[in-house]
Amino acid sequence: MKTSRTIGIGILGFGTVGQGVWKHLTEKKSDLESRLGVKLDLRKVAVRNLKKKREVKISSAKLTPNPFEVIDDPKVHVVCELIGGTTKARECTLRALRQGKVVVSANKALLCEHGPEIFQAVRQHGGQFLFEASVAGGIPIIKAIREGLAANHFELIVGILNGTCNHILTRMGEDGLSFADALKEAQELGYAEADPTLDVDGIDAWHKASILAWLAHGKWAPRNRTLVEGIRNIGPADIDFARRFGFALKHLAVIRRNFEKDWMTVGVYPALVPNGDILARVSGVNNGITLRGDVVGATTLAGRGAGQDATASAVIGDIIDAIASLTGSARQGLSLDDLQAREKQGQKIRMAELDEIVSPFYLRLSLLDKAGVSEGVYRIFTKHKVSIARVIQYEHPNQGRGTVTLSTYPVSERKMGAVLAELRRLKTVLEEPFLLRIFSPES
Ligand code: NDP
Ligand code: HSE
Repeated sequence: MKTSRTIGIGILGFGTVGQGVWKHLTEKKSDLESRLGVKLDLRKVAVRNLKKKREVKISSAKLTPNPFEVIDDPKVHVVCELIGGTTKARECTLRALRQGKVVVSANKALLCEHGPEIFQAVRQHGGQFLFEASVAGGIPIIKAIREGLAANHFELIVGILNGTCNHILTRMGEDGLSFADALKEAQELGYAEADPTLDVDGIDAWHKASILAWLAHGKWAPRNRTLVEGIRNIGPADIDFARRFGFALKHLAVIRRNFEKDWMTVGVYPALVPNGDILARVSGVNNGITLRGDVVGATTLAGRGAGQDATASAVIGDIIDAIASLTGSARQGLSLDDLQAREKQGQKIRMAELDEIVSPFYLRLSLLDKAGVSEGVYRIFTKHKVSIARVIQYEHPNQGRGTVTLSTYPVSERKMGAVLAELRRLKTVLEEPFLLRIFSPES
């Protein structure tokens, strides 16, 4: 290892994550220098607004409004992209990679939507793109798949991948907060995206699930072949049903791979998780991921999935790896070439059809309060051979309507979709039916 080399680090963005990275890198500078045998030069930070007040102190001389000033600085070897979004961030990432630099990124939207272009630039110019912070905050899930669990094929990867959604569902379920108040709290704590609709509508979890599917199976999960649902419509009756019947309400990302039939399915949606499942106990901002590998069996990783310090931990882990490889002491994992080979195999995988995606369901219906209405509903279930497991009826005296919540035995998405389509046409169904999947590792 060369001992006298100076490694220059540039940071794009000084928001929640950028400030965390700066704070911890500054605190640990001398420790890291002696461990890595280099001098660290925290050179420059790009921000949008030079006048903004920041919690973490930084000399104004270090700040610039121009990200290119950071990227193009010949003394910057590692560029941390912590701006977010897919426009400026894409431009900056490609600019740095085309100069053969290392880019460390927390940007799952960018990777999910422009992954092939980014890796093409890495291959062409010999830089690196490291993205541990893009999935599950402080949990080293990318490293786990690329290194520790590299011996496995994964038939199931299921996880809670959005800290904001998990925080909201926990606060609603355990503390009775409203959706709006719980979201506001998540924003104040620095968990939410700049545009929080990405969190609550499931898009952020899709970005992360797509990255995991690509890592594990070599295939990106396109938006139009992924079931993407958020948590906006969860209400008190759903929370009550979950509590009474031994479930936790979680926003899940589920990646299943059928190796015999060569299909893959990716879905992100709120689901009822049996209390006995380890993921049911992952609460608050925490994320949890269970990987079922053919060699290791089921392995679960859990920890803080969002927020300043957890994310900084992942970014700094990547910076350390980058320095190790720049100084010739890189550790061996699944390399970009390995991932490219995996991508070739991934070309033969198809996305599963709706008949092949099976689970038990939960349904909440708002029904006209009149004799015979329930029979009309149940007839539709019988017609499509969907068996009902449990039912609760709530009366709303003098309102002319009632709420029915029910669960089914396992059935395909296609059959349940047909039931829903018919229910929507009934005049006695007063609101859009609300559907959740009940998670079961077996279906
Ligand atoms: P913030 O919105 O808190 O910070 C974004 C930063 O980028 C701000 O400092 C902003 O400047 C700066 N910025 C934005 N546009 C420009 C531009 N054109 N030029 C220069 N600077 C710019 O976001 P986060 O820190 O929360 O997130 C950053 C990234 O990390 C995102 O990709 C996010 O998805 C990801 N991430 C976030 C996690 C979290 O818990 N927050 C966890 C894991 C990943 P200014 O301050 O002047 O406005
Ligand atoms: N907004 C994201 C979340 C940040 O809440 O999970 C971490 O990726």
